[in-house]
Amino acid sequence: MANASGLFTPSVPSLRLRGRIQTPIGIYRTGFLSPEGFSLMVFCSNPAQGSDKLASGSGASSSESRAPRLVSQGCKLVGCGSAVPTLKVSNDDLAKIVDTSDEWISVRTGIRNRRVLSGKDSLTTLAVEAGRKALQMAQVDPDDVDLVLMCTSTPEDLFGSAPQIQKALGCKSNPLAYDITAACSGFVLGLVSAACHIRGAGFQNVLVIGADALSQYVDWTDRGTCILFGDAAGAVLVQACDSEEDGLFGFDLNSDGDGQRHLNATIKENEMDNALGSNGSVLDFPPKRPSYSCIKMNGKEVFRFAVRSVPQSIESALEKAGLPGSSIDWLLLHQANQRIIDAIATRLEVPPERVISNLANYGNTSAASIPLALDEAVRSGKVKAGHTIAAAGFGAGLTWGSAIVRWR
Ligand code: ACO
Repeated sequence: MANASGLFTPSVPSLRLRGRIQTPIGIYRTGFLSPEGFSLMVFCSNPAQGSDKLASGSGASSSESRAPRLVSQGCKLVGCGSAVPTLKVSNDDLAKIVDTSDEWISVRTGIRNRRVLSGKDSLTTLAVEAGRKALQMAQVDPDDVDLVLMCTSTPEDLFGSAPQIQKALGCKSNPLAYDITAACSGFVLGLVSAACHIRGAGFQNVLVIGADALSQYVDWTDRGTCILFGDAAGAVLVQACDSEEDGLFGFDLNSDGDGQRHLNATIKENEMDNALGSNGSVLDFPPKRPSYSCIKMNGKEVFRFAVRSVPQSIESALEKAGLPGSSIDWLLLHQANQRIIDAIATRLEVPPERVISNLANYGNTSAASIPLALDEAVRSGKVKAGHTIAAAGFGAGLTWGSAIVRWR
């Protein structure tokens, strides 16, 4: 939202006000004695109204709208994978097409190289490769996948890419597959959606893929944006588990359409206007097919938004998880700009050695950046089983959100 000075200030709801309009879902564990013995239950409910009630056994009365929903299982991350295009484009390569330099780009952003789709590479092939690697690590057969979530803002089919990925992976049981569009926050939304499907609907294996090819929507003559983006895919297999093993401790999701003016790639003006005469008559029909404009961004405002909103989101997710900041083994942020990552880590008092960063090699890969960085960190042995990760995405929409998860 614009304040009196005209500066953009995203409307980050304060924790205290949250119960008012938004009803964040928290996960509460409690136990009960049944004829079969002690069982663990997980309730989805509104933390603003207090977990104490549940713990003390008073529960929710039937008159309350928040009727807690009993779910029987938890979820955890058990596999990851990633894939990047073959074509590597360095800062020096970009300096040949726009007025920039390796020094300017690396000092302002931390980016040195990015991968760009070319030749036989496609977003779908990258997504399939990343998904296949995640399934292999998790030792899950494609036939046992219940849901494929393709988090992307650049699908190869207007109606969504997920079913094509389901097909290419060889999921013969025809599991549900659909796309989630939320730019650089897409993967975090996908992760939380996977958990909801598992906890609330009994799904067993959900493949969450984050993949984007923003190179196709970049204006390669605009040095303010073309230096930032790269293409990639990353994936995570989220699996049902006993509730006491649950590995999604807390999350926080937000959006603010008012900030869209600072970062967008909107559809060009509707050519239909030319087809319609003032008296409703048909002038020029059929209308021209509309297309999307290139990415437009006010970098300073996006920077400000990220540094202000993301720490609050992570603190909110930690609070819902009932965990202190010191419990974070790894801070894994959307890889947009090293200066943004450093500023957020400083605000959260997370030391640099506990911050995951690989954007020097790949730039901003939008929905792919978190699972791509996670995959590299897991395969290099940095992130180990049992580690707690605070992951946060932010970007166009505006959207932003975070999740506190355990790896395996
Ligand atoms: N090379 C050389 N000079 C440049 C370049 C470049 N590539 N780009 C801009 N400049 C110039 C500008 O023209 C300007 O020159 P001037 O002072 O003569 O007018 C000067 O450098 C400063 O430009 P700024 O835009 O103010 O530079 P800033 O320090 O803000 O850095 C940047 C720009 C890197 C884009 C930064 O604002 C940023 O990273 N913002 C966040 C972007 C982001 O995180 N996006 C994530 C979301 S993406 C998504 O969701 C799809």
